[in-house]
Amino acid sequence: MLSPNFNAIGWEGQGLKSLAHKPDREFPYAWQNAVGDGGMLVLGIETSCDETSAAVVENKVWVRSNIVLTQTKLHEPFGGIVPEIASRKQMEFIAPVVQQALSDAGVTWRDLDAIAVTNRPGLIGSLVVGVSFAKAVALAHNLPLIPVNHLEGHVFSVFLRERDEGRGARDKEQMTGNRQDWEFPFLCLLVSGGHTELIWVKDVGDYEVLGRTRDDAAGEAFDKVARALGLGFPGGPAIDKASEGGDPNAIAFPRADLTPSLDFSFAGLKTAVVRYLKGLEDRLKRKQNPTVADIAASFQEAVVDMLLTNLERAAELTDAERVAVVGGVAANRRLRQKLLSLAEKRRWQLALPELKWCTDNAAMIACAASFRIEKGLAQPNLLFDAYAVAEINDACL
Ligand code: KG4
Ligand code: ZN
Repeated sequence: MLSPNFNAIGWEGQGLKSLAHKPDREFPYAWQNAVGDGGMLVLGIETSCDETSAAVVENKVWVRSNIVLTQTKLHEPFGGIVPEIASRKQMEFIAPVVQQALSDAGVTWRDLDAIAVTNRPGLIGSLVVGVSFAKAVALAHNLPLIPVNHLEGHVFSVFLRERDEGRGARDKEQMTGNRQDWEFPFLCLLVSGGHTELIWVKDVGDYEVLGRTRDDAAGEAFDKVARALGLGFPGGPAIDKASEGGDPNAIAFPRADLTPSLDFSFAGLKTAVVRYLKGLEDRLKRKQNPTVADIAASFQEAVVDMLLTNLERAAELTDAERVAVVGGVAANRRLRQKLLSLAEKRRWQLALPELKWCTDNAAMIACAASFRIEKGLAQPNLLFDAYAVAEINDACL
């Protein structure tokens, strides 16, 4: 039971005995493996960046609905996300997004077993919108509320599945790669706008970070280089597209090698591209004529090479049979293409989530919470904060 120690946090108060939330329903629930048999239903809420997302997930992995509102157009003129705008828009749209997720799933508040919300890491104003909304509805509907680490959510995106209604009762595999039933342990490369990490996922809640970026995240490098190339925002998809038809070997951009560690560094590569662009006028005079496609493809190749080199080394170190690549940058077509051949060569079982599960979504948050509930690792409460900075192993309470 959580009781706030007001003195410890520098507050004074009277009369408040406990802020612990005591919903009717108790963990753990009985688990069933089929869909539509009355198994556990978890509503996920995700507002860690500019997305406003809500999803209903059944029996840990089955996505009944997933709504994602993005604000790309609103932030485009600024060349990046403006946190103040992001959180204000999320405050406007969170309620209808959640309502839509419930109605698409064909459920009401009474059908839900729990609510899961991202409370770390991310833009603090955006996180506060999701967390506050989730606390309010959990209290109003007497439902357990579980805080979820966004990074853990990305890791669990490998488990998501969806019924393919169009093809009758068949399950639709939401993966590229040769994934069969996914199990622990697995090696996970998490590549997003804020993080680049190699994680040895031993079990639910048991993660060993083997390497991480020492400066920019891979997605951040894509965004910054796209801006330098005048390709707009968000940079990852823009470079992915601009690289079409370009020669990935046109320019030999540097690859940081931090051996023996498994860490990454992308700042040097980003600076090399910016310097290259500054020297472009001279090159044009000398009639060397790289196209934007060549520059984008060469930069992208350098990022992909660095990611795959460390992934391969980490797989050797851990003797991994299963490898997953998750997060926004996992949507990159060149990365996916090279990963597929590497997995074949190395005989890895590879999980590469469908594009919609790579970028931020609430289904992965509900999924991570469900696995925690099953393991007895979820601690539902209404007394938790939102945190801008957090590692995957940081406790949330
Ligand atoms: O996981 P995500 O949606 O949000 C974070 O948790 O950060 O990742 C967003 C990042 C952005 O930096 C975006 O440019 C990058 O993922 N991204 C891509 C692609 N699609 C999104 N990077 C490279 N190629 C893509 N196709
Ligand atoms: Zn993310």
